[in-house]
Amino acid sequence: MSDNSKPPVLELRNVDKSFGPVEVLHDISLKVREGEVLCLLGDNGAGKSTLIKTLSGVYEPTRGSILLDGQPVRFARPKDAQNRGISTVHQFGGTFPLMSIGRSFFVGVEPTKKFGPLKVFDRKKANEIAVSAVQEFGITRIDDGDRLIGGLSGGERQSLAIARAVHFGARVLILDEPTAALGVKEAAHVLRIVLEARRRGLAVIFITHQVMHALTVGDHFAVLIRGALAADFRKGEKTREEITDLMAGGEAMAELEQEIQAYLDESPETEPVQNRPASSEEAV
Ligand SMILES: Nc1ncnc2c1ncn2[C@@H]1O[C@H](COP(=O)(O)OP(=O)(O)OP(=O)(O)O)[C@@H](O)[C@H]1O
Ligand SMILES: [Mg+2]
Repeated sequence: MSDNSKPPVLELRNVDKSFGPVEVLHDISLKVREGEVLCLLGDNGAGKSTLIKTLSGVYEPTRGSILLDGQPVRFARPKDAQNRGISTVHQFGGTFPLMSIGRSFFVGVEPTKKFGPLKVFDRKKANEIAVSAVQEFGITRIDDGDRLIGGLSGGERQSLAIARAVHFGARVLILDEPTAALGVKEAAHVLRIVLEARRRGLAVIFITHQVMHALTVGDHFAVLIRGALAADFRKGEKTREEITDLMAGGEAMAELEQEIQAYLDESPETEPVQNRPASSEEAV
């Protein structure tokens, strides 16, 4: 559970981000605490990826500040954010299809063993640690560290990437659309892992288009529309319909319905395609 007596692990204060004359993020203020899942919702182009890139050191804010444990910080590059425990998992787990599970788990920090005068990669040790880290998250199907990443399902790759971030001490886990390309069962696995990360006290920022996924794991929700924070609320304060409407932008939704109605009014006589007799060309 989150502890409100401590400062938020990560906070954005009045952050703007512009690219030349294009202002993409306007005056964003957000907080995420330990043991809390913050869901970041918004339509395509709303600014979600720009926001997480600003949090994870890919971009610096044009104005405003980022605070870690209540102290202002500047991340000049992603490595700076990583070193402070902010770990971002991209949609496909950011892993390498031709590497084994054990090898990819330790990219850049390989355990070694002595082989005569040489130090070589300790494959057995890497495999054992990687497999046990992912199994701790309940993914028992991964039991062989020699398997290639390319042979894992999307959900397994996500799970592995999250287990890796936690193993290497992440305090803030940023997940960019981790369930977007997954079927129901796979998505459920990833959502379970998100809850496990939360139980272990991590602050999780979960980016998604899928309101149902957000509602199952989120404690706190922020909706971005055209780069501004359109809503910021806690679990139970809004219904699924209200959130969906907000994401589409209430006006956009009404406009869409009007357009569709106008189309239907214009062509009331059109028969459904499947009832039309097949023409000779269509019947091949
Ligand atoms: N480097 C850049 N230079 C100029 N404009 C940019 C740059 N990066 C993003 N933008 C613009 O900022 C807006 C927000 O983009 P962003 O990728 O953050 O949206 P998003 O919410 O992640 O969308 P999606 O759901 O499609 O991933 C878009 O209009 C995009 O064109
Ligand atoms: Mg994006």
